[in-house]
Amino acid sequence: MRDWRGADVISIRDLGREEIEQVLARAAEIEPDPDLLRGKIMASLFFEPSTRTQLSFASAMERLGGRVIGFSGVGGTSIQKGESLHDTVKMAERYADIIVIRHPLEGSARFAADVASVPVINAGDGANQHPSQTLLDLFTIKRFCGRLDGLHIGMVGDLKYGRTVHSLASALTNFEGIKLRLISPPSLRMPPKILEEELRGRVAFEEIQDLDLADLDVVYMTRIQGERFPDVEEYERVKGAYVLDLEACRQLKPEAIILHPLPRVGEIDPEVDRLPQAKYFEQAANGVPVRMALLSLIFLGR
Ligand code: CP
Repeated sequence: MRDWRGADVISIRDLGREEIEQVLARAAEIEPDPDLLRGKIMASLFFEPSTRTQLSFASAMERLGGRVIGFSGVGGTSIQKGESLHDTVKMAERYADIIVIRHPLEGSARFAADVASVPVINAGDGANQHPSQTLLDLFTIKRFCGRLDGLHIGMVGDLKYGRTVHSLASALTNFEGIKLRLISPPSLRMPPKILEEELRGRVAFEEIQDLDLADLDVVYMTRIQGERFPDVEEYERVKGAYVLDLEACRQLKPEAIILHPLPRVGEIDPEVDRLPQAKYFEQAANGVPVRMALLSLIFLGR
């Protein structure tokens, strides 16, 4: 078992199967404990909007007895006056024992980890990575499907800019017998670099455009990431590309599960919420135990 003490969590690619399973096992057993991280402070630096990641990290830290400082949006901070990311991180490391950062630039979390003297967790860097989301996605899949091997998983929507699908696809290369059905408009395909350098030869994948959900164990819906499109007209062309409604769900196996990292902005009809396959709110709730597990491992080692 890895000793996690002081580890940065920047890319899911940095974790192997054993380490992923160590986090999931810890998340399955961890209970709130007001003494575990007493006296520790987390700096929550959110340069981009967030509901789930920010609140569940804060909830996780507080349930373990720690405290949270930070900002949500740069308004009110000295970044408005031109302070650099480097200097912001060098301040946060002096005020806190760990940094959780979300930033629109790919590579920003790695940069923060390189300059910080305290551990850094990437809470999403542009279209690149969102490793703690992937850990909670895997935790949810394991809980409902009972396994992480031999799964047929459909990823639907914005596979070009969606960092959650990039991270999840990379993580799935650690498991056996995975089949991926990548469903997107042609302009929003999974980046060729991920397809060729990570998936090819490790998982079986197909790329299609139709919302074909037959035979899937997991349907992973995603939002079209309007904020990352350089061309607004292209966003307008594809924004309603997929809507999972009751009619589309008739294709699902009874034991299939529907996930979505959320927020959703129209790609899952609220009527779907009452189906037994709809697990996206439980998925979001799992962010708390998974992030409690990560924090406890980073502070305590095991
Ligand atoms: N899944 C996720 O990252 O949601 P937030 O943007 O609300 O944090």
